[in-house]
Amino acid sequence: MADLSVTVDGLKLPNPFVIGSGPPGTNANVINKAFEEGWGAVIAKTISLDASKVINVAPRYARMRVGAKGSETIVGWQNIELISDRPFDTWIEEFKQVKQKYPDRILIASIMEEYNKDAWCEIVERCQDAGVDAFELNFSCPHGLPERKMGAAMGQDCEVLGTVCGWVNGVSKKPVWAKMTPNITHIEEPARAALRNGCEGIAAINTILCVMGVDLKTLRPEPTVEGYTTPGGYSCKAVRPIALRMVMECARMMNKEFPGRSLSAIGGVETGEDAAQFILLGGSTVQVCTGVMIHGYGLVKELCRGLSAFMDAKGFKTIEEFRGHSLQYFTTHADLVQRQASAKALEKAAAEGRVTKDTQWTGEKFVEQSNKLVAN
Ligand SMILES: Cc1cc2nc3c(=O)[nH]c(=O)nc-3n(C[C@H](O)[C@H](O)[C@H](O)COP(=O)(O)O)c2cc1C
Repeated sequence: MADLSVTVDGLKLPNPFVIGSGPPGTNANVINKAFEEGWGAVIAKTISLDASKVINVAPRYARMRVGAKGSETIVGWQNIELISDRPFDTWIEEFKQVKQKYPDRILIASIMEEYNKDAWCEIVERCQDAGVDAFELNFSCPHGLPERKMGAAMGQDCEVLGTVCGWVNGVSKKPVWAKMTPNITHIEEPARAALRNGCEGIAAINTILCVMGVDLKTLRPEPTVEGYTTPGGYSCKAVRPIALRMVMECARMMNKEFPGRSLSAIGGVETGEDAAQFILLGGSTVQVCTGVMIHGYGLVKELCRGLSAFMDAKGFKTIEEFRGHSLQYFTTHADLVQRQASAKALEKAAAEGRVTKDTQWTGEKFVEQSNKLVAN
């Protein structure tokens, strides 16, 4: 029977499945529900010191569906939701309550602030005093917050991101993960800046900036708020291939330059098999946000079942046994061409009965095989 437990940056999780920051971790009620159902850890909805600046709109989601009417599957999800609009003091109380109720479970605070050292230090110190187990720094929200130079605006500027990570790591007594934006050409660059400035781990990816569509009756883009919209963040199944690529890029860089640092993989996970792929590309934990909004908190049982079944089928006893295994199979296109040419040459030699390895010599065809190797 597979052992799904993982220890990441000293944090002990019963399984690698983590609630990703967003609506599924938006208050103590739902965080408690996640722990009851068996999630390995919860990353709370992102918070900041002054929630009065956070004003959400409705509608703020739009979905991409495929399939016949009545049996459609949701494949893509856009949101223009901001970070938490609940007061910071309320959050501090709720962190304390959750940790009192679930002292052995892992509660991670997702935090975001403006480019101000005192603000970042204050938010870290107050959250860690409330008992949270780790931090995730939100350098990645792609909409709304960048207008205040926060979120993805920070994540796209390696110098600013590095400085903020330095401030946070100067005061944090807990592990710190930096959450990356996918809205950048080379995700390894901000990841490297975070790790150089003391972060224990990287989380990737947040949502991909998108426009869900335009209503052909009203000619208004969606989701429409008073007739207008703003580009939002795309998540769910459709982003998984992009997330896998970006997780792979982070993992390869980290294995080379920062061995031992952790990677929390995110993007379109809804099954244990999806999660297994992220672990094969280097993820120590796997976060799920939109999947919980579609399927509910009970999804964790299905995720554990699917991952266990994969591990049993392959004979893997622990997550560490296969984490990062598939990274070795990425190479350059030029190398693929070379490999294919070599394989074809070997095939041709075999078809012509030409020996290419000493093990292929046989007593019966020895003379014939010798003749085939003669130059003229
Ligand atoms: C409605 C919604 C709200 C989100 N809010 C946050 C947030 O407050 N902080 C954050 O770091 N990520 C937030 N995210 C991003 C998710 O944590 C996750 O990175 C992204 O959605 C990709 O994963 P998924 O396909 O499992 O949802 C939000 C996502 C959604 C769909």
